[in-house]
Amino acid sequence: MRAVIATAAGGPEVLSVHEVPDVEPGPGEVAIAVVATAVNRADLLQRQGFYPPPPGASEVIGLECSGTIAAVGEGVEQWSVGDEVCALLAGGGYASRVVVPAGQVMPVPDGVDLVTAAALPEVAATVWSNVFMVAGLKPHEGFLVHGGAGGIGTFAIQLASALGARVFTTGGTAEKLAFCASLGADVTINYRDEDFVEAVKAATGGGGVDVILDNMGAKYLQRNVEALATEGRLVIIGMQGGIKAELDISVLLRKRGAVIATSLRSRAADQKAAICASLVELVWPLVAEGLVRPIVHGTMPLDDVVAAHELMESGEHTGKIVLTV
Ligand SMILES: NC(=O)c1ccc[n+]([C@@H]2O[C@H](COP(=O)([O-])OP(=O)(O)OC[C@H]3O[C@@H](n4cnc5c(N)ncnc54)[C@H](OP(=O)(O)O)[C@@H]3O)[C@@H](O)[C@H]2O)c1
Repeated sequence: MRAVIATAAGGPEVLSVHEVPDVEPGPGEVAIAVVATAVNRADLLQRQGFYPPPPGASEVIGLECSGTIAAVGEGVEQWSVGDEVCALLAGGGYASRVVVPAGQVMPVPDGVDLVTAAALPEVAATVWSNVFMVAGLKPHEGFLVHGGAGGIGTFAIQLASALGARVFTTGGTAEKLAFCASLGADVTINYRDEDFVEAVKAATGGGGVDVILDNMGAKYLQRNVEALATEGRLVIIGMQGGIKAELDISVLLRKRGAVIATSLRSRAADQKAAICASLVELVWPLVAEGLVRPIVHGTMPLDDVVAAHELMESGEHTGKIVLTV
């Protein structure tokens, strides 16, 4: 099989495609002949040596893929060789073949082609698990997602909007924010020249938003808490703005607010399987209806993995970057 190997920790140039021994499924696992994978911001951190794979996971980068089932391990009954699928991975996606627990494999939603399906598992699982399963966003609540034009953001805007929330988002350019509005964002805020707390308060009569999905971590902690409504829930999933911050707890306390931080990759296989089952039941129908669609900035061959990482680092992309294998 072919796989992207990082020769050292470093910049995109450390990545190249090599021939490596095939991986084989163990009990409860399947092997997927990968058709496409997609780039996630976590992949850049792993390449730089800051985000090692969890114990037992492949050293090969790649958190999601689409493809066909190539082999099934002992005890797997729900999948057969040849089925077209997409999958949430703990690693190993940047390769022509990957092994994954059967519970993290999902059918391709109706109306989505097999290549594009590679752009769905990580954003869908992250947004669904955090915004709905953990933070419990309800219809008519206010929801702020930072970085609305990114992979996570484009999915979060559409899903929250489809399920009836009032959606706020931040972005770095007028063009990206216009695209976010076209996806369903009701209030768009340019993080370069606007204070998002003021913008949220102005649009909510001072009340704030009920749920925030945050990619910035330390840099936005205090301001996110200030932008929360009473009994609001802040879910931190990224650390693009650093890892250490001070927080005036009296603000959180007065609001009876919650600050939650989660990592999808480190969840146990049974939790990931529960998230995937919930996605197939409750989110895939919205994708099939066209209410939520995968937003793909561009599709490149796996051999162009260096250029794909450079593109994500440039921040010029909107939505997902897909790699075909
Ligand atoms: N914890 C988990 O389980 C989990 C799972 C998946 C993803 N994540 C995290 O989620 C985040 C998004 O991932 P992704 O794959 O969607 O990456 P991405 O497509 O590269 O998106 C990054 C986003 O960050 C935005 N951004 C940059 N500076 C900002 C600022 N000062 N304020 C607000 N937004 C800013 C960018 O906005 P512009 O392009 O408009 O500048 C862009 O939309 C990453 O931090 C990633 O690590 C976490």
